[in-house]
Amino acid sequence: MIKFKLFLKYFAFIMLVALLAIQFFHPTKNESGDLTNDISTVYTMPVDVQEILKTSCNDCHSNKTIYPWYTNIQPVDWFMADHVNEGKEELNFNEFASYRIYRQFKKMDEIMKEVKENEMPLTSYTLIHGNAKLNETQKQTILNWAQGISDEMKSKYPADSLVNPKKRVKKDDD
Ligand code: HEC
Repeated sequence: MIKFKLFLKYFAFIMLVALLAIQFFHPTKNESGDLTNDISTVYTMPVDVQEILKTSCNDCHSNKTIYPWYTNIQPVDWFMADHVNEGKEELNFNEFASYRIYRQFKKMDEIMKEVKENEMPLTSYTLIHGNAKLNETQKQTILNWAQGISDEMKSKYPADSLVNPKKRVKKDDD
């Protein structure tokens, strides 16, 4: 019994030291804010859409994350960096203009799907950022906007430029 208590003490001590030690390691923050290839350089971005993206999506889908104080505490920072990297890889509104046409088209489709099915913003995010949760009006605003861009693309580009030329089943760059 005594041995077990001693073990627990050592264990707690080692955990504490580990927790302190990881505080010195932080991933690079997503704060470049580079807008060279922003979506607004190629498509109309109404102010209400911009506002919604800013409060509900851009922390994970842009070149600029707003970091609340507690993200300075590890391992929260790693958890957050993971979401940001994964989110940006899938969709980055600040890099949108650099995507090939078929990818832009597909992203609009995915945005509508994710918003309709309440998949985005991620629940782990809205639990903390209550105001990021989309209400019905905001959802409709995003859906109308994405549909508008989709329609605009259909009339502007030849139909075959809207499909991935390689037609692979699951694409790395989708
Ligand atoms: C907390 C971070 C976070 C926020 C906020 C967030 N996303 Fe995401 N998003 C992710 C991550 C991580 C992925 C990739 C993994 C996945 O699909 O779940 C992703 C994937 C996506 C995808 C691609 C899905 C697919 O089919 O591959 C779309 C589209 C998307 N998000 C749209 C949005 C929109 C629109 C908003 C705002 C209304 C938003 N996201 C808010 C983290 C976030």
